[in-house]
Amino acid sequence: MNISSIRTDYVRSSLSEDEAGGNPMQFFDRWLGEAISAGIIEPTAMALSTISEAGIPSTRIVLLKGSENGKLRFYTNYDSDKGRQLTGNPAASLLFFWPQLERQVRFGGYVHQISGDESDAYFYSRPFESRVGAVVSQQSRVIGNREELDRDYEALLEKMRPDPEAVRRPENWGGYEFDPVSVEFWQGRASRLHDRIRFRKVAGEWVRERLSP
Ligand SMILES: Cc1cc2nc3c(=O)[nH]c(=O)nc-3n(C[C@H](O)[C@H](O)[C@H](O)COP(=O)(O)O)c2cc1C
Repeated sequence: MNISSIRTDYVRSSLSEDEAGGNPMQFFDRWLGEAISAGIIEPTAMALSTISEAGIPSTRIVLLKGSENGKLRFYTNYDSDKGRQLTGNPAASLLFFWPQLERQVRFGGYVHQISGDESDAYFYSRPFESRVGAVVSQQSRVIGNREELDRDYEALLEKMRPDPEAVRRPENWGGYEFDPVSVEFWQGRASRLHDRIRFRKVAGEWVRERLSP
């Protein structure tokens, strides 16, 4: 297969300064709503990049679980690779790609852990099985084999089934809030002349700029 010949011309839409407005987080919420309405699979899936101690970026998908007060929220294990990297360096980037809408949104910013109470609120809203899974998973640790994981999960599931409320949130499981300092909206256009509108936070105010494709 000759992958260099795969080519899509983007003709669906365009992006003007007027549409983007002056507040990128309000505009992001609009695009996110359109991605959800368009029936995109996992519209809240975003690539999160963090930086290792050696300075090597590392990227994985996590799910957006809230967009409020200009901040983006996700949940994970604080002792995972990403959690440890974020403890060492809170700088991160987030990226959404919604191919059916020919759109990409790219964020740069900083994260901080949310409070235990806030993490509790989300943890206890999750299904019993997911809560048990979060307790059993030592995310990003090397394990012997799949059977070991299944055995631990089944054992805890059986033990807790009579009293599901007793599955407590592990101390090392919780949320992060991402505070953006830059947001770029990309709308695919014909002939590779895409629309790119970037916002940068300068002295607490959003500055809007158009970038060359
Ligand atoms: C669609 C999708 C959604 C995911 N959502 C999450 C999530 O919300 N939180 C999370 O910790 N991992 C999530 N993962 C798993 C991560 O991509 C990753 O494997 C895991 O967090 C371990 O990453 P780390 O070792 O870099 O810390 C998701 C993966 C996919 C493909």
